[in-house]
Amino acid sequence: MAIQITPEYHTEIAMKRALLRNHHERCFQSLDHTLEAQWEVVLLLTHQLAHYYPEHFSLNRQGNLYTFHNRLLNETQTFEPLNAASLPMEPLNWIGQHVQEDLLIMKQGDEHDEHVILAAGQLCFPGNWSLYFNLGMPFSRIHEPVPGLVDSGIADKIARFVSRIEAGQPWTRLNWSLNAGQRLDTSPETFDQWGHLRHLVSPDTVGTDIHLRVEEQNLFRLSGSNGLLFTIHTYLKPMMALMEVAAWRDRLHSVMKTLPQHLIEYKGIEPYYDKLLQYLEGYCDVQS
Ligand code: HEM
Repeated sequence: MAIQITPEYHTEIAMKRALLRNHHERCFQSLDHTLEAQWEVVLLLTHQLAHYYPEHFSLNRQGNLYTFHNRLLNETQTFEPLNAASLPMEPLNWIGQHVQEDLLIMKQGDEHDEHVILAAGQLCFPGNWSLYFNLGMPFSRIHEPVPGLVDSGIADKIARFVSRIEAGQPWTRLNWSLNAGQRLDTSPETFDQWGHLRHLVSPDTVGTDIHLRVEEQNLFRLSGSNGLLFTIHTYLKPMMALMEVAAWRDRLHSVMKTLPQHLIEYKGIEPYYDKLLQYLEGYCDVQS
């Protein structure tokens, strides 16, 4: 299942809608000829929501017309797939405003083409990357800043794997990083609002300031338009909360202790790395 509804639903949907209203260009982009794929996303996600969360969502069909009801927001929308006039905005933008996930559409020339490019997206909670900048780029160009991924040939291997994902067999991965501050929108365009927080972390505030940021990412084949839907659900938890579970505490400690310098730099952890390590070590000593 792509979509997770969590207790933060109302807060995060309100944040997404405000970001889309105030910073539309940053949060929504689509290339020409992506409407068919966008409609596939609407059908995939409205069906999933109604199936997995029947207490919150319903989807009824009469001929070509579908009626989607979101009880959490008390909103109802009737739409006719492929009829642009039946929704108040582009289809990907509309369905993205009913889910907490960021949604990206990748396109392939045909099923033998190993080049997947970023063709459309609604991205409100990026982990320091820009949809506006990356739009139209192939998988390997997008991953160029990631240390070791492109030079080693791994990015091409992943792109090949991604290009062969089949309908009905979605693929999931988790990505992690750390944030100074409890902020979902860490876009490069707003770096001036959050970048400096990394330098303000003190030994006393490590537990409350630093958050583990986990992204649950899913990839689904959109078979009608030969595209892929990439969903990202972002979770933040402060260090303090992670210290309460021995397995999480120990794992974090061992990962941090052995994290290579180039990843410490890439993930933006360097300004507070030593303080974090001392915090984790102190905690492990106290608990053991
Ligand atoms: C197909 C859709 C995907 C898109 C649009 C995407 C996009 C991105 C972007 C924008 C970044 C940040 C790059 C930067 O620093 O500017 C990133 C990081 C990364 N991606 Fe992807 N990605 C996709 C799929 C995957 C897959 C399938 C894998 C691996 C199997 C992967 C592995 C990674 C890794 C390892 C990083 C570095 C993350 C970190 O250390 O924080 N990506 N991706």
